[in-house]
Amino acid sequence: KGGYEHFMMKEIYEQPRAVRDTVNAVLKNGRIDLSDAGLDEKTIRSIGRIYIVACGSAYHAGVAMQYVMEELARIPVRVELASEFRYRNPILDPEGLVVIVSQSGETADSLAALREAKQRGIRTLGIVNVVGSSIAREADNVFYTLAGPEISVATTKAYSTQLIASYALAVQFGKVREQITEEKYQELIAELKTLPDKIAKIIEDDKERIQWFAAKQANARDAFFIGRGIDYAISMEGSLKMKEISYIHSEAYAAGELKHGTISLIEDGILVVSVLTQKELYEKMISNMVEVKCRGAYLVAVTMAGNYKVEDTVNFALYIPETEECFTPSLA
Ligand code: M6R
Repeated sequence: KGGYEHFMMKEIYEQPRAVRDTVNAVLKNGRIDLSDAGLDEKTIRSIGRIYIVACGSAYHAGVAMQYVMEELARIPVRVELASEFRYRNPILDPEGLVVIVSQSGETADSLAALREAKQRGIRTLGIVNVVGSSIAREADNVFYTLAGPEISVATTKAYSTQLIASYALAVQFGKVREQITEEKYQELIAELKTLPDKIAKIIEDDKERIQWFAAKQANARDAFFIGRGIDYAISMEGSLKMKEISYIHSEAYAAGELKHGTISLIEDGILVVSVLTQKELYEKMISNMVEVKCRGAYLVAVTMAGNYKVEDTVNFALYIPETEECFTPSLA
């Protein structure tokens, strides 16, 4: 365990290294090169639609990928749980690409979904961490995440590298499909390279405040993680991690959807973690946060450094360093 109390802690600290290795592996001469994943420029141009299929945290990485890919590459993306995809006789575009995201490369539903896509003659790409795993062997092409062995059942570093794979694909698709300029492309690549240090800084700088906060909230009964857009994707993963590890009931909700019934569960002391990293959605988020605060929630914000005014609304705030809006999941 490398001196750590348990593997999950060790792997949380390994995130900067895992992310750096995964970023470096796709960069060649200052550009993203996806030829190892079978995605040369001609192939990228020929893809009409993307289907992302996965389970659990890998699915959550897929939800983030959907936002980033549609934003940067303007290509339609559908993201789906493998356990649904495999049984629902999906209609697939023959020009489509099915992306199976899996740390282990052995998850039964994800593997079955891959086989289903292959049987229908659709091109498949595995985003996989374990070399030689079933999904890695059977997919037409593989994008390897370089998290290294993940021993903890609760994923941290593999999920972080799946996000990097998503960004690399989205940035390259955006460039090749002429949705982003050369200047923007270079900016995005430069920012990708900064992520490992930013992640390391968050883990180091915020450690004590987070420990203090966790100790204070350890008896929480219910938690909600809310966000809009890509912040909803990170909320899903935050919420899963919370319940998986603490046994505290937790749900992720698209912030704008709470009022359609579920807000009735928000009462005194319920923990609500609000993720707000997107400028355009900031005011909308604040109004959702005020709604839950009025019902007595203990409100936490995860937001960008500089948004200090959020403290007028919340009980506790965590700040993350500036980055491209599409890359905020890695820091939030
Ligand atoms: O190995 P996979 O990525 O295919 O596993 C999928 C899920 O079981 C996995 O992501 C699970 O949700 C996480 N280990 C939870 O932390």
